[in-house]
Amino acid sequence: MALLDGKVAIITGGANRIGLAIAQKFAAEGATPVIADLKTPAEENFFFVETNVTQPASLTNLVDQVVAKYGHIDVLVANAGITEHKGPVSQLDEENWNAVINVDLNGVVLTNKYMVAQMEKQGTPASVIYTSSILGVVGAANSQVYSAAKAGVANFTRSQGVTYVKTKIRFNAIAPGYVNTALSKTLPESVTSTMVERMPIGRLLEPEEIANVALFLASDLSTALTGAVINADGEYTAQ
Ligand SMILES: NC(=O)c1ccc[n+]([C@@H]2O[C@H](COP(=O)([O-])OP(=O)(O)OC[C@H]3O[C@@H](n4cnc5c(N)ncnc54)[C@H](O)[C@@H]3O)[C@@H](O)[C@H]2O)c1
Repeated sequence: MALLDGKVAIITGGANRIGLAIAQKFAAEGATPVIADLKTPAEENFFFVETNVTQPASLTNLVDQVVAKYGHIDVLVANAGITEHKGPVSQLDEENWNAVINVDLNGVVLTNKYMVAQMEKQGTPASVIYTSSILGVVGAANSQVYSAAKAGVANFTRSQGVTYVKTKIRFNAIAPGYVNTALSKTLPESVTSTMVERMPIGRLLEPEEIANVALFLASDLSTALTGAVINADGEYTAQ
């Protein structure tokens, strides 16, 4: 039996890189991935719903389409994100600043509002996973807005976790370091070598490594191994 048999998983920002690697990993483990993205994925095997995570009407359309087709949503990976124009705060472009906060933080909260409402209605075990970033934990020079948005996602996750602790919905965030993506391959050597220097592991991460963490968090193993069980009333209790 595969780890995600029968689970329907929405992956926002799933058309590209990390999100697509998560969708592929989930599919290999028996899940039905749904790609929710502004742009159409190159991978044609997955159900795709054009979605803008900053627009409530777009998110309600996503829920309606997935529920009409599959009947339920078991996993949400809120992964859509954009990066900022980097620079000291005195030179930040306010339009870009607002766009980053709007997608990377507001978009995550909005996505939750509509997906978690559906999960609550279902009353069955569900997993919500956010893609934060190491920059949300440590901050980084000239990356203030993105770092602030991702720190917001990390603390949103903690608050969600305690808010829903007595339900069957669990919340976790992944905070990846620098990932080896098509974009990183286009960066100057001086930039990638600085990124590698900041990584204790001494190399960039591969998207598949992030996907493996998402797989663990989406699977029932993540509750079993942390010692939590769901009792007959649907509450989490310690083993
Ligand atoms: N690449 C890295 O090194 C790294 C490191 C840590 C965290 N992250 C985070 O991981 C996530 C994925 O990163 P990636 O490198 O795969 O990025 P990416 O740019 O390759 O993919 C992001 C996807 O999000 C989609 N998207 C953007 N705005 C959207 C919106 N409003 N509504 C719906 N979809 C939208 C894009 O179309 C794209 O397909 C992001 O949240 C990013 O901040 C990336």
